[in-house]
Amino acid sequence: MQYVHCPVMKNEVLQYLVPKRENATFVDCTLGEGGHSELFLQKYPGLKVIGLDRDDAIRAKAINRLSPFGNRFEAKAAWFDEFWKNYEGPQVDLILFDLGISVFHYEESGRGFSFRKSEDLDMRLNAHDGFSARDIVNSYGEEELANVIYNYGEERYSRRISKAICEYRKSKAIEKTDELAEIIYNAVPGEYRHRRIHPATKTFQALRIEVNGELDRIETALDNAVDALVPGGRLGVITFHSLEDRPVKWFFKNHTDRVEILTKKPVIPTEEECMTNSPSRSAKFRVVEKRSK
Ligand SMILES: C[S@@+](CC[C@H](N)C(=O)[O-])C[C@H]1O[C@@H](n2cnc3c(N)ncnc32)[C@H](O)[C@@H]1O
Repeated sequence: MQYVHCPVMKNEVLQYLVPKRENATFVDCTLGEGGHSELFLQKYPGLKVIGLDRDDAIRAKAINRLSPFGNRFEAKAAWFDEFWKNYEGPQVDLILFDLGISVFHYEESGRGFSFRKSEDLDMRLNAHDGFSARDIVNSYGEEELANVIYNYGEERYSRRISKAICEYRKSKAIEKTDELAEIIYNAVPGEYRHRRIHPATKTFQALRIEVNGELDRIETALDNAVDALVPGGRLGVITFHSLEDRPVKWFFKNHTDRVEILTKKPVIPTEEECMTNSPSRSAKFRVVEKRSK
């Protein structure tokens, strides 16, 4: 099987998340294709790993990849915030969040995460969930849609883009990724079309965040995950844009009675990694250690 996602900041993650006992437990809250989990299973023969992912297709890839580790690895179909809210198991030693989506989603899922392809506009990580990106672009009011694009994409032309979408859908429902990308391209000013990033990038990010409730899940997940850590246990979070990083940074700053911040400044990838693994370019890694009472 092919794995298309290269785990970000492998060395830095292994450097900070070190088990302090033989039979420690590591919870990988964003299992993906299992790249980070595999590193830990290989490095620590006594370690037990629990991997969470709400996406059935990518979780199946990780289960296949990690099957050689037998019952040292267990996968769970769960949103990470819901998992930690309901968690009643023993305290765990290490926790990792590697937020967002994987290269798999853009390249292989067929669910419309990439504006470079012609796919149905879906973007749901959980195929059983309610509404999709298609429902959003065809049913939200103009102002509501502009707010989503602005708040979750930080897109300066959110109002123009929302207006163009609402105009277009009067004659035909928007079904495909390339159809939406073209509406956005035509809605923005000429000079904005030829910049380093495609003019649809931020709108696609915003839709994906809205569909999956991505940002709303972060703080409650961190809160309950810290509760589940053993004293001295460590929790690390990798983020890819400021909308993800800000709530993590503030959560840690507001909870220094419970955790010690180990990364005063976020750890960032080496220049070499940025060159060889381009999705890592915007990554930031923050780590805390749970205080003993
Ligand atoms: C950046 S990828 C993780 C890549 C992984 N570390 C690896 O090395 O292959 C993030 C993964 O988390 C999943 N995910 C995102 N938000 C989630 C959430 N709130 N609950 C559960 N899974 C989530 C996505 O489906 C995706 O597979």
